[in-house]
Amino acid sequence: MAVDVLLGLQWGDEGKGKIVDVMAPRYQVVARFQGGPNAGHTLEFNGIKHVLHQIPSGIFHENIQNLIGNGVVLDPIVFKTEIGKLEKFSIDFSKNLFISKKTQLIAPTHKLLDAAYEKAKGANKIGSTLRGIGPAYQDKIGRHGLRVGDIITGSFQEKYSQLVAQHKTILDFYQMEYDLPQVEKEFMEAIEFLKGFNIVDSEYFINEAIRKNKKILAEGAQGSLLDVDFGSYPFVTSSNTMTAGACTGLGIAPKHVGKVFGIFKAYCTRVGSGPFPTEQFNEDGELIRKRGNEFGSTTGRPRRCGWIDLPALRYAIMLNGVTELLMMKADVLDSFEEIKVCTHYKLADGTLTDRIPYDMNAEAFEPVYTSLKGWNKDLTGVTKLSAFPVELNQYIAYLEKELHVPITVISVGPDRIQTIERKAKSSNKAKPAAKAKSSTVASKKSTSKKTKPVVKKSAVAKPAKKVKTTAAKKTKPVVAKKSAKKPATKKLAR
Ligand code: GDP
Ligand code: IMO
Ligand code: MG
Repeated sequence: MAVDVLLGLQWGDEGKGKIVDVMAPRYQVVARFQGGPNAGHTLEFNGIKHVLHQIPSGIFHENIQNLIGNGVVLDPIVFKTEIGKLEKFSIDFSKNLFISKKTQLIAPTHKLLDAAYEKAKGANKIGSTLRGIGPAYQDKIGRHGLRVGDIITGSFQEKYSQLVAQHKTILDFYQMEYDLPQVEKEFMEAIEFLKGFNIVDSEYFINEAIRKNKKILAEGAQGSLLDVDFGSYPFVTSSNTMTAGACTGLGIAPKHVGKVFGIFKAYCTRVGSGPFPTEQFNEDGELIRKRGNEFGSTTGRPRRCGWIDLPALRYAIMLNGVTELLMMKADVLDSFEEIKVCTHYKLADGTLTDRIPYDMNAEAFEPVYTSLKGWNKDLTGVTKLSAFPVELNQYIAYLEKELHVPITVISVGPDRIQTIERKAKSSNKAKPAAKAKSSTVASKKSTSKKTKPVVKKSAVAKPAKKVKTTAAKKTKPVVAKKSAKKPATKKLAR
């Protein structure tokens, strides 16, 4: 059986935790393949809100095996706390939770190093969650990392001491002050605690599951634009957050990858530093933050908010091979008269492109927007497709047309039940979505006739060598005149 992959297409916090929890009953194994406690995946059901950092989001389902893969970096202290918070749910971890021997460990000094590197960067800091992620991956690649399997061999203490000695040299270089003994005690207690869990040869575990035709869902963390290779480098995390990362982070061959579910918000957010072309430093951004409760699940930091960015989404869809799109937090846009969509970027010489610049920070470009009419209706109580306002259907249809992948889930609130499915055509392959037939389990009524978007004004920018416009410094949309047609991409700068 194929391994389906679910991942974020933006800068994280798209709602992965919620959707994995919703989809989990269709699977027998849920596996995290990268990241670590920098992730905060929120689940809500039966009036309970829960945030998971390292434990896969299938953990609340009795018959699902949850695997922490080799691609993950695990902080045992955070793990112990997470398990403690799950105690009240009477989960049988001996049956439901497995950890790869090859998962890398985050030591207390990794967190100190994270802080040291960020401090040294000054104004150019990444805005890391400071959970030790970067330094732990550095040690993995540097070939002196500590792995979970080490804790059950005799060599752990020796390896640990060697690593800490190295770290201390670096910390001294950065003139960091620290007090290790207390946190080391906590770390060693957490290591002992970790020994009580299923520590497995995860590559065999997962391939055995594939061989037995078990249904497997790989749960991504962070988002595609935070990918260490393809994200907005250097303002990224330190792992491959994309479909390819599921292969290396779990030990599955690419031929086993099945569906790729790409999650995105109906708008866009980012937490931490780095470029964010469609960020809104105005009341629109404020309203999105307020209505979307856009504060980090891990650090509590306010998230930066802005409009949806189609060039960035197209890029993420291309790199991940997304077969189905899931649009989250549609309800957050409920009160907007007008919804803006960035269709292209305008370069300094006036040409339009839908390519992501090599260095978003250094290259001058501006987002070009089109506007669609908002639905101005509370969606949070909507349970079926047939109750969608016409403007929401138009927004969905517009995005499908532009992204060429069907949107099969619309989320209208944080709870499990606030999730509405649209049936994709039987084929997994990406299709121009204007042709996708929409239906739910509750309502089979087709909405495909509503696929033509009402693009407010004549909005989509026609590619022009020099579009004369005083293009708004990140806040004001650049709406070029005439032509609601899709720009002829051939003419666009590549
Ligand atoms: P993840 O990191 O991708 O799992 O996402 P987070 O949990 O960090 O952030 C998503 C936030 O949005 C959480 O607080 C969720 O409870 C919430 N959420 C998820 N889906 C929806 C939705 O459709 N509407 C609203 N209003 N909130 C949602
Ligand atoms: P989930 O899985 C949003 C961001 C940080 C910072 C950058 C590097 O909940 O979507 P790191 O701690 O890896 O050194 O941080 O990446 N970041 C996230 N932003 N959601 C996340 O995870 C994130 N994990 C890391 O804010 O900008
Ligand atoms: Mg999150």
